[in-house]
Amino acid sequence: MIFETHAHYDDECYDEDREALLEELPKRNVGYVVNVGADIETSRKAVELASKWDYIYATVGCHPDEVDCLEKEGLQEIERLAETADKVVAIGEIGLDYFRKEGTDYVTTQKKWFKKQLDLAYKMGLPVIIHSRDAAKDTMDILREYVENHPDVTNPGVVHCYSYSPEMAREFIDLGFYIGVGGVVTFKKAKKLVESVRAIPMDRILVETDAPYMSPEPHRGERNDSARIKYVIDKIAEIREMDSKEVEAITEANARRMYGI
Ligand code: NI
Repeated sequence: MIFETHAHYDDECYDEDREALLEELPKRNVGYVVNVGADIETSRKAVELASKWDYIYATVGCHPDEVDCLEKEGLQEIERLAETADKVVAIGEIGLDYFRKEGTDYVTTQKKWFKKQLDLAYKMGLPVIIHSRDAAKDTMDILREYVENHPDVTNPGVVHCYSYSPEMAREFIDLGFYIGVGGVVTFKKAKKLVESVRAIPMDRILVETDAPYMSPEPHRGERNDSARIKYVIDKIAEIREMDSKEVEAITEANARRMYGI
């Protein structure tokens, strides 16, 4: 079965047909969905979805673009959800995003909340989901420090929607991380990601949508859903010269191992 490791079904673009879609996904070979929080509100909604649907799990955390809500309200609500809600399987998505930012103040703020949320993950004994865009070196530096300072952490988490080089992927894997591969791998210009998928060990690859975003070819630009991970799996199978069913089984086992499900 497909293990969807990163989706946002709390998004308002599913308001019209969320029930019907979530009812239908298991019939389209989707066995598990991890619904990822990106701020305080969506973390709450992720927990609600997980309490309602057997096959859905939740993560709580604040995306680097959304850390203003932590500046205002602090980390207490994220912490409360992580401690009290059932089926919270990771802290995330957290990280650094320097894409299209002006000035430099945001760097200090993003780093501060990234580190505080890593501390929360450590305290809770949970893996993290990393969002990193145009911030490869700073992300690596902070994660290396985190792993080195906590030698008891054997399952630090996943670098989601991976977009950096194959060399960088190996460095993340050496730290114990998994690599999240999504719809981008099916795009024509995805040469670097294809190289990464070719180079990394199969037991380190997770598949994801980042739905509603990043819909794979031949559905690029449309609203995404977890059943479309089949196109990502087919592409990985093509790159690795494997059978799609084998890729599906391996990525399911990887995700269950990482999320402890
Ligand atoms: Ni996401």
